Amino acid sequence: MRPLRPGDEARLQEFFRSHTPDTIHDRYGGVVTTMSEERARELVGVDQTRDCALGSFTRDGQMLLAVGRYCLDPAGDAAELAFVVRESVRRRGVGTRLLQLLMAAARARRLRRLWAQVDVHNASMLGIFRHHGFRLTPQPGSGDVRATLELPRDRRGVRPAAA
Ligand SMILES: CC(C)(COP(=O)(O)OP(=O)(O)OC[C@H]1O[C@@H](n2cnc3c(N)ncnc32)[C@H](O)[C@@H]1OP(=O)(O)O)[C@@H](O)C(=O)NCCC(=O)NCCS
Repeated sequence: MRPLRPGDEARLQEFFRSHTPDTIHDRYGGVVTTMSEERARELVGVDQTRDCALGSFTRDGQMLLAVGRYCLDPAGDAAELAFVVRESVRRRGVGTRLLQLLMAAARARRLRRLWAQVDVHNASMLGIFRHHGFRLTPQPGSGDVRATLELPRDRRGVRPAAA
C-alpha cells in the first residue's frame, strides 16, 4: 500500500471500470458514472498533507486493488472516509487494513473525528466500522447510517500512549 500520486491516473480509471453497479452505488451513491481523465487526475493528485488517499496495488505495482481515503472537512478538524476494494479481493482484510492506516494518519495529524455515510444495507462496511469502535447512527429517511469515531485528546492536548 502507498499514497496515490500523479502517474496513477490510468490505474485509477481501470479500477473504476472494473466496478460493478453495486460497487458504484455503495461507494458513490450512484451519483458518479464515469471516471474522466480530469477527475482521475484530481483524485490521485490530492494534497496528501491535508487529505489522505491510499492505494493497494498488485505486487508489480501495475493494478489497483483498493483505495481508501479521507477528505478533510472545511473546518479542518474532521474528515470523511471512503473505501473501495476490487470485488475479486474482498474479505481478505484489505478494507480493514486501509481503515487502520487512515485512523493512524488521522491520529498523527491530531484530527478530532472521522466519519462516513454508509448505506444501511452495506453490512460489510458497517461491520468493519463497528469493530473499530465507530458509533453508528441511522439517518432517518435517507437509507444511510452515519459512522463516527471521535479521536479524543487528553488535557495537555497529547494523545494517551495507549491510543
Ligand atoms: C466495504 C468494503 C470496502 C470492505 O472491503 P474488504 O476488503 O472486503 O473488507 P475486509 O476484508 O477487511 O472485511 C470484510 C469482511 O471480511 C471479513 N474478513 C476480513 N479478513 C478476512 C479473512 N482473511 N477471511 C475471511 N473473512 C475476512 C471481515 O471480518 C469482514 O467481515 P464482515 O463482513 O462480517 O464484517 C468492500 O466490500 C467494498 O469495496 N464495497 C463497495 C464500496 C463500499 O461499500 N464502500 C464503502 C463506502 S464508505
